[in-house]
Amino acid sequence: MKSAKLEARRVLTLALCGAAWLALPNGAARAQAPAPATFSPPGEAAMPTGPFGDAVKLGENIFRNTPKYAPQFTGNTLSCDNCHLDGGRLANSSPMWAAYVAYPAYRSKNKKVNTFGERLQGCFRFSENGKAPPLDSAVMVALESYSFWLATNAPTGAKMAGRGYPELPKPAQPPSYQRGQVVYAQNCSLCHGADGAGTAAHGAVVFPAVWGKNSYNWGAGMSTINNAADFIQANMPLGMAGTLSAQQAWDVAAYIDSQDRPQDPRFTGSVAETRAKFHDNPLSLYGTTVNGHVLGATAQ
Ligand code: HEC
Ligand code: HEC
Repeated sequence: MKSAKLEARRVLTLALCGAAWLALPNGAARAQAPAPATFSPPGEAAMPTGPFGDAVKLGENIFRNTPKYAPQFTGNTLSCDNCHLDGGRLANSSPMWAAYVAYPAYRSKNKKVNTFGERLQGCFRFSENGKAPPLDSAVMVALESYSFWLATNAPTGAKMAGRGYPELPKPAQPPSYQRGQVVYAQNCSLCHGADGAGTAAHGAVVFPAVWGKNSYNWGAGMSTINNAADFIQANMPLGMAGTLSAQQAWDVAAYIDSQDRPQDPRFTGSVAETRAKFHDNPLSLYGTTVNGHVLGATAQ
């Protein structure tokens, strides 16, 4: 099953590479490449054995296939791995080795100092559109063990090169839904679908949903245009990361974050009030009107 999924990805990635290269305008402004990461997490073969190794392995399984290994806390078909590529190992794809050593840290999102576990709880609630696993649950212990292991020999508290998604400069022109729609049709829809629902084969997700009921909800980091643009420019199209210009990345981010998706779990009962409380910022389109439709009003 795993190899069928990888093969489907490989074939589509190759098919798209040709088409998308041709579609890219000559001399399109490329965003600057981020600084190379100097840290390497341990290889799979170095995974420990015994009870701690079992926890690390379970954590990796949860990370790579969240709906299967943590179904009670997952409300869509996304896995952590869909946004933190290569099992949370890839630099500039918000890798877990760089995150692990950066907590506890203050977060303005919930206005308190968050432990690493509390940070993971947020990912389940918003990105996975699910429920926060209790801090002492087996799921949480496994994900923490896996991240701790990936961070073997990383310095605590250091700001590591490759952490997060590299921040893109503000675009020359404000992000445009119309231009983003064209970028999406040319560079993304082959894998993620014209309807944003992604592609499944034999019941397994091959290409994840970028909007609709199986995608991240309106409270997720990815639902703000800057986070989506940063992620997309550094990681998409799969196999051709870094080829979109900063402007194209902002435009396509605005396009996918102008579509319906699951409701913000902090919804107060009123879209306007929820926007005022949690989305009062031009980088979130929640509660704004796009094509005559109020985003969040018919959340899936
Ligand atoms: C060749 C297929 C392919 C193409 C083309 C592609 N993606 Fe992806 N995309 C993927 C895969 C596969 C993942 C999950 C990564 C993983 O699990 O390794 C992903 C993940 C994502 C995610 C995060 C997960 C989610 O569903 O929200 C977003 C957002 C995304 N892609 C946006 C885009 C955008 C925008 C484009 C076009 C600029 C694009 N992708 C082009 C295959 C593709
Ligand atoms: C839809 C994409 C998406 C999915 C799925 C997702 N994340 Fe994230 N994650 C993000 C984005 C975007 C950020 C950074 C922006 C923010 O602060 O929300 C982030 C941030 C993080 C951070 C903080 C990184 C740092 O350096 O401080 C951790 C840890 C994390 N995610 C873990 C997870 C885990 C574990 C899962 C699965 C249970 C998961 N994420 C699922 C998109 C996603």
